[in-house]
Amino acid sequence: MSEQYLLEMKGICKSFPGVKALQNVDLQLKAGEVHALLGENGAGKSTLIKVLGGIYHAEEGEIIIDGQKVNIDGVVAARHAGISIVHQELVLVPYMTVAENIFLGREPGTKMNVDRRKMVEEAQKLLDTYEMNIDANMLVERLTIAQQQMVEIVKAISFNSKILVLDEPTSSISDKEVGFLFNTMRNLTKAGVGIIYISHKMSELAEICDRVTVMRDGQTVGTKVVKETTTDDLIALMVGRELTNYYTRDYLEPGEVILKCEHISDGKMAKDASFELHKGEIIGFAGLVGAGRSETMKAIFGLAPHATGDVYVKGEKVKIKSPIDALKYGIALVPENRKEEGLYKVQSVRFNSTIEVLGSFIRHLHVDGKKEEEITQKYIDMMKTKTPSQDQIIGNLSGGNQQKVIIGRWLATEPDILILDEPTRGVDVGAKAEIYAIMNELVKQGMSIIMISSELPEIINMSDRIYVMNEGRVTGCLDHDTVTQESIMTLAAK
Ligand SMILES: Nc1ncnc2c1ncn2[C@@H]1O[C@H](COP(=O)(O)OP(=O)(O)OP(=O)(O)O)[C@@H](O)[C@H]1O
Ligand SMILES: [Mg+2]
Repeated sequence: MSEQYLLEMKGICKSFPGVKALQNVDLQLKAGEVHALLGENGAGKSTLIKVLGGIYHAEEGEIIIDGQKVNIDGVVAARHAGISIVHQELVLVPYMTVAENIFLGREPGTKMNVDRRKMVEEAQKLLDTYEMNIDANMLVERLTIAQQQMVEIVKAISFNSKILVLDEPTSSISDKEVGFLFNTMRNLTKAGVGIIYISHKMSELAEICDRVTVMRDGQTVGTKVVKETTTDDLIALMVGRELTNYYTRDYLEPGEVILKCEHISDGKMAKDASFELHKGEIIGFAGLVGAGRSETMKAIFGLAPHATGDVYVKGEKVKIKSPIDALKYGIALVPENRKEEGLYKVQSVRFNSTIEVLGSFIRHLHVDGKKEEEITQKYIDMMKTKTPSQDQIIGNLSGGNQQKVIIGRWLATEPDILILDEPTRGVDVGAKAEIYAIMNELVKQGMSIIMISSELPEIINMSDRIYVMNEGRVTGCLDHDTVTQESIMTLAAK
């Protein structure tokens, strides 16, 4: 008699036009375990979860819960089967309050007469349990992305489901919130809940997961006990080869100062940031979430209406009032929230790749289609973006592949100064290594790069110099050959 699983997915197949997203996928979840689902961008993780959640209907395969075959033909059926999911893309209703979102479809009171007071009270209680400092009456559109992500998590947990799925829940929340989340997960598994956990942060595996199933190209390639395997082995399973040279960096003699910023403020989070960037350098910006790094860069890029401070490009003082001005001075910025800022979700990969450079190949109102295609292909190849064609609607790509298109879009502007805000967030380990190699190549060709990152190993291994910020100010600058995680953390709290 085989062991009874809480959940079994057997022989699941799901295709989209031109893509076999899932081919005979198996997954077994035990009660009381955290089961990681690992795989490259586009491997099929989210698709598998959407089949489980009743969003997609599998062409083949079965789902068995507590030994019983179940038919999950919609979101409601999934919920009845005891499944609760935090999806990779945030799905809260922006114009509703936090409380309304949490209790959507299951409001206390009657359908005609919702007990609003109770709803807000209960929601606030939930939020407070996680020390979230969010008012349950607040409109969701006013929350930061991290806050929205936490609200989704709290909402999913509040269903008291026996199967909880988290699809990249920690992509934008801070360490403190990750800590709360992991504690909650531990408590839930003690109570017998089974958790499926998707993340590209390999370090989280050892910390929170018991077993791991690896997917590659729409198939399951193995299930392992986390304690009995190594990160290197898992990466090899994931990408189908050994990954040597994770970080690529040839340190060069930096050239002249190409960008100098003094006393940059955006009137809000960025208070007084000064720094210099030399030609051919990568400078890293480290700090805790909320240190004002993104805001400083947005102010420089012309995205903060009340920005103050002085910006010099190649020694010349410039006034940048909008991203168009910034591009004119050769500055490009790949934003942190690539899904929210600048993704044209129902447009094609080609449109999304070329939108910033379109102006350069429109002649007499006629778009040079061949050039558009060439540029798109160049960056699909460079970023190794997985898409069936350039015509694919970008919203249909996997989360990580959407990110790659947006990074490519800004590379296509061929800037002198490239600002990357959390460039490897949401991308798989193999693609991370590729992004590092591309960055190294770009600076060798004379580009200069500013990288904001919350991942200290990446900052330390890729930067010539590291600026650290706290509360909107630059608190210090560290050199790559003497920097340590501790020295960064000290400055981050200064
Ligand atoms: N609605 C859709 N229409 C067409 N193709 C889709 C759709 N959803 C997913 N795909 C394709 O299915 C494949 C698997 O995508 P999926 O989102 O499951 O990947 P993933 O493993 O979650 O990747 P990531 O780590 O980037 O989130 C990809 O090739 C993707 O382009
Ligand atoms: Mg996904």
